[in-house]
Order: sequence, then C-alpha cells, then structure tokens
Amino acid sequence: MPLVFRSLLFGFVTLLVVVLIIDDIAEVEEETAKATAHADPTASTRRNKGIKRHGPSYNNTAKLSSNNWTFNKTLSNLIRKNILRFLDPERDISILKGTLKPGDIIHYVFDRHSTTNISENLYRLLPTVSPMKNQHHRRCAIVGNSGILLNSSCGPEIDSHDFVIRCNLAPVEDYYRDVGWRTNLVTMNPSVVQRAFQDLVNEEWRDRFLQRLQSLSGSVLWIPAFMAKGGEERVEWALRLILLHTVDVRTAFPSLRLLHAVRGYWLTNNVHIKRPTTGLLMYTMATRFCEEIHLYGFWPFPLDPHGKPVKYHYYDTLKYEYTSSSSPHTMPLEFRTLSTLHRQGALRLHTGTCDAERRPQTELQSK
Ligand SMILES: *[C@@H]1O[C@H](CO)[C@@H](O)[C@H](O)[C@H]1NC(C)=O
Ligand SMILES: *[C@@H]1O[C@H](CO)[C@@H](O)[C@H](O)[C@H]1NC(C)=O
Ligand SMILES: *[C@@H]1O[C@H](CO)[C@@H](O)[C@H](O)[C@H]1NC(C)=O
Ligand SMILES: *[C@@H]1O[C@H](CO)[C@@H](O)[C@H](O)[C@H]1NC(C)=O
Ligand SMILES: *[C@@H]1O[C@H](CO)[C@@H](O)[C@H](O)[C@H]1NC(C)=O
Repeated sequence: MPLVFRSLLFGFVTLLVVVLIIDDIAEVEEETAKATAHADPTASTRRNKGIKRHGPSYNNTAKLSSNNWTFNKTLSNLIRKNILRFLDPERDISILKGTLKPGDIIHYVFDRHSTTNISENLYRLLPTVSPMKNQHHRRCAIVGNSGILLNSSCGPEIDSHDFVIRCNLAPVEDYYRDVGWRTNLVTMNPSVVQRAFQDLVNEEWRDRFLQRLQSLSGSVLWIPAFMAKGGEERVEWALRLILLHTVDVRTAFPSLRLLHAVRGYWLTNNVHIKRPTTGLLMYTMATRFCEEIHLYGFWPFPLDPHGKPVKYHYYDTLKYEYTSSSSPHTMPLEFRTLSTLHRQGALRLHTGTCDAERRPQTELQSK
C-alpha cells in the first residue's frame, strides 16, 4: 500500500530531518482528503487548470506584475464563499471552552493513535468566544518567513496594514526595517520552544521566551497543540508562563477539523498539496476576515529572481529542500497557486523590495 510505504518513508525521513518534520502542522491521510474533496464538487472553480506542473521555476513567477496589480473584489468574494463551504475560519480558528473540560482525551490529528489530555492550564486558556468573532479588516498582511524579506525595506509597508499575521513566532526586533513590528495574530508550533528557545533549559532562555510572549501584547497567539504528538510539554511550559505572568495574549487552539478542511478546499480546486504550510493555512483563514490580502516573505526557492541565494528563514540558518519528495509540504506548488491568484487579482504577492517613498500613498488608499 502506498500509504504504508509513505508511513515507513516518513519514519525514515524523520530521523534525518526531525527538525523539519516537527515544524509541520499535520499530515492528512490521502483517503480522507479525497473523500472531502469529492464531497462538494460544485465548490470547484477550476481556477488553476492552467497551472503547469513541471519543476520549480522562479522565472515565470519572478515577473509578478506589481505596478498594474488591481484587486478583484468579485473574485475575492467568490473565493471566500467557496472556502466557507469547507470551513468557517471564525469557528475553526480555535476550540472553545464550552466544548471541552480538563482531563478530556484528544487524538492528535496527525498521530491518530496517540492521545493527549486537556490540562487544567490549557482549559483555562481556551477562549470562550472566537478571537476573530466579528472581525473584518480592509487590508491584511500575512508575513511568511522567507529570507527574501532581508533588505526588502518592507517593514513600514507591512505595518501599514489593518491586520498583520505572522508565522511561528518569528523574531521582529532585529529585522523590523524589513519585516515590521506590528502583530495581530502569530502562530506558534510547539517545536519553536525547542528550536528558537532551547527548550527553556535555563533562566536566560525562559526570560527570552517570556519577553517574546510579552512583546505580543494583545495579539492572538495561535498554537496548533493537537496536530502532531511530541509537543505536549512545550505547549504546557508556554501556557504556564502565560498564566503565571498574566501575559496579555489571546490564545487560540485550532479545531481538529481545520487541516482536513483546508486541504479539502485546495484539492477540490485541483491544487494537490500534501500538507498545507502555515502560510497557506493563514491565507485560507484570512479570506474570512480580510478584504484585500497581501502576502510578504513567501518565496520557496533557493535563489531570488536575480539568481542571488535566499535563506529559508530570514532569521536563522535552517536549510530546506523545497522540492524533495519526502518533504511534507509542496511549497513550489503552493507558490504557483498563489501566483495565479495574484495575477487574477484575488491576492497580492510581494516578492520584491518596497519603495519607501510610495508608502504614504498606500496608506492614503487604505483609509
Ligand atoms: C531562468 O531563465 C534563465 C534565462 O532567462 C535560464 O537560463 C534559467 O535556466 C531559468 N531558470 C529556471 C529555474 O527555469
Ligand atoms: C501588467 O503588466 C504586465 C507586465 O508588467 C503585463 O504583462 C500585463 O499584461 C499587465 N496587465 C494589465 C492588466 O495591464
Ligand atoms: C474578476 O474576477 C471575476 C471572477 O473570476 C471575473 O469574472 C472578472 O472578469 C474579473 N475582473 C477583472 C477586472 O479581471
Ligand atoms: C489522562 O487522563 C486519564 C483519564 O482521566 C488518566 O488516566 C491519565 O493518567 C491522564 N494522563 C495524563 C498524561 O495526564
Ligand atoms: C543586505 O544588505 C547588506 C548591506 O548592503 C549586505 O551586507 C547583505 O549581504 C545584504 N543581505 C542580503 C540577504 O541581500
């Protein structure tokens, strides 16, 4: 069975690139996703029929028009409507307090045979209403973590949006000129606690982590706690710190159905992603809350359009094999899909540098 083979392969790959694997949100089994995809064929808009499937090319995507991009509200509304057939981002963005109690057992979305208990701390931090309830924003920025942002001078432009989404607690302090400061929602995979904060081994790392959390004042902290096993303790440490220091963040824990639903939507639209990246998840959800969606820091290629090397993350030295078949993601395919949507005016992908002088106009337009 291909599935069995895939699992074996997965186990093997885990040994090699454990850091990359635990970074990921969740695998969704092929069968389930296919079933979802066929559940509502009318939802398909077949927008991506024209996308070519050959290798990753940054050449044709490098020519993303930026001067004459215009927003297509009709298309954007249509996409929102179609996504709503698969998920309601307002609801699926977090499990709510009323639906669980401490001690309840949850099966991980990815590792279904493993379970975790709802801890007292997690229960206390479950929201009572959706943190995105009744939120509507005119212009939103979703900031991916690609090194393409380095030296982009996009910070002020990013911060000029009405709502800014960031991924995986990426640092901003040392990079604000290129990535901005403003954060209204930030995701945090449990593995970040290990990767970027040394599993809080000593006081110094605990302080750094706490400071990062405190710097989020008022934003939504989105923690995919029930996707893959292994992060239970790290989530618990984070929650304990938040409670102990009454950190001003609004925690959210994605619903157990979110991943299946998002993947189902894209499969139905003929985009055969394996597991959605956090960036694609955020775009899919943001369609519910945002009118115009602008993406920054999305660039899954090792070279920029001029052939210069681009780091995987703007803030660390992690390497990533974008086109490896063992990778749980299909980033170049996701990117081609987003490029198509850019050309159609459904969203805007920013892959170049930002012109600081044009910023005031952008701000005027947003009012
Ligand atoms: C991009 O285009 C150049 C010439 O325009 C070509 O030499 C290069 O191989 C292309 N790269 C890819 C990845 O298609
Ligand atoms: C936008 O500009 C690109 C090249 O920069 C061109 O190919 C395209 O036709 C233009 N689109 C419109 C609608 O003018
Ligand atoms: C906007 O998108 C709609 C739906 O796809 C399409 O019918 C329409 O032609 C587009 N408008 C422009 C100006 O491209
Ligand atoms: C989870 O809850 C069950 C039943 O309440 C209990 O038997 C088990 O020890 C708990 N496990 C952990 C790790 O707390
Ligand atoms: C950014 O600019 C600095 C100064 O010009 C340069 O040293 C550095 O290599 C640049 N980094 C990237 C990723 O282009």
